[in-house]
Amino acid sequence: MSCTFEVEALTPGFGVKLTGFDLESAIRDPSFLKDLKSLVDSRLLVYAPGQKLSPQAQQDLTSSFGPLANIKWAGYDAHHVPGCEWIKVISNGLAPDGRPHGDGNSSAQIWHTDATWEVPVSHVAFYCRQTPEPAPKTGFKNMIAVYEALPDATKHRIARLRAIHHLYPKQIEVKVHAEGPSLPRERRELGFAHPLVRRHFGSDKAILYLPTRRDSVILGMPDEEARALLEELWSFAESVDCSIAVPLRADDFVLWDNRACVHNREGWPEDQSRIMWHVAAFGESSTPMFPRQSLNVIGLSPEAASKVLMGEEPGY
Ligand SMILES: [Fe+2]
Repeated sequence: MSCTFEVEALTPGFGVKLTGFDLESAIRDPSFLKDLKSLVDSRLLVYAPGQKLSPQAQQDLTSSFGPLANIKWAGYDAHHVPGCEWIKVISNGLAPDGRPHGDGNSSAQIWHTDATWEVPVSHVAFYCRQTPEPAPKTGFKNMIAVYEALPDATKHRIARLRAIHHLYPKQIEVKVHAEGPSLPRERRELGFAHPLVRRHFGSDKAILYLPTRRDSVILGMPDEEARALLEELWSFAESVDCSIAVPLRADDFVLWDNRACVHNREGWPEDQSRIMWHVAAFGESSTPMFPRQSLNVIGLSPEAASKVLMGEEPGY
């Protein structure tokens, strides 16, 4: 028998809450996975509170969105979840043996997309195991809605721009964001050059796809102009009412589209421990929304790509 569940909108156009079902058993139902993917494509975020989920089930569920990514910090002597190599534990706590439960700290974080300095992950799943009270809220913002709200002149201005998402240590932490000095230009030129307007393959809509650092390089644009533009775009994004803030508690599960949502979090006292299991799936590389007839990521026009796919021409 196929799984049934209740769906409640978290906001009119973004996010859903799923109740009345058991996620652990539902993931073995192909029709549930199909429904779930469809919900995530259209609503970008699913929130299922109060679930009893095994680590293997969290990995299996996330892997249905793409190959899993090992995102644990290298060289950090943390426990994570033995036997589940794809779970990164996000925690500021220590285990009884004095080793960290996982990677992380208790700092508040600004809006960001995960891991955009490389091929970014497309979907991220959190399963909360422990939290202080009051539970710090994790925020999510719909960057498709932000793009749609942009003035037409801004849409036109940014349509073909690309920004380099460089690596800046702890750039997502509020304090580092406020006080961290700019890296030299040659360091800011290292990273993926993602389109500012990215195509969302789940809905064929445009995403405003911003680098976290406001001093990021925009190809072909002087630094001062690029910073002003990125400040303007982030400021606009902050002003659009299209976000959700969820106080995640033990047994709460949330999965979101890391291409189309940015997220942030509140901080909490350092002497209190939060433990979050984090699994991420790789998706496609970023593709510009405009121009629609441009070369695609493998360097072929849509017509040429179509011939390759049909076997009429070699794909090289
Ligand atoms: Fe993050």
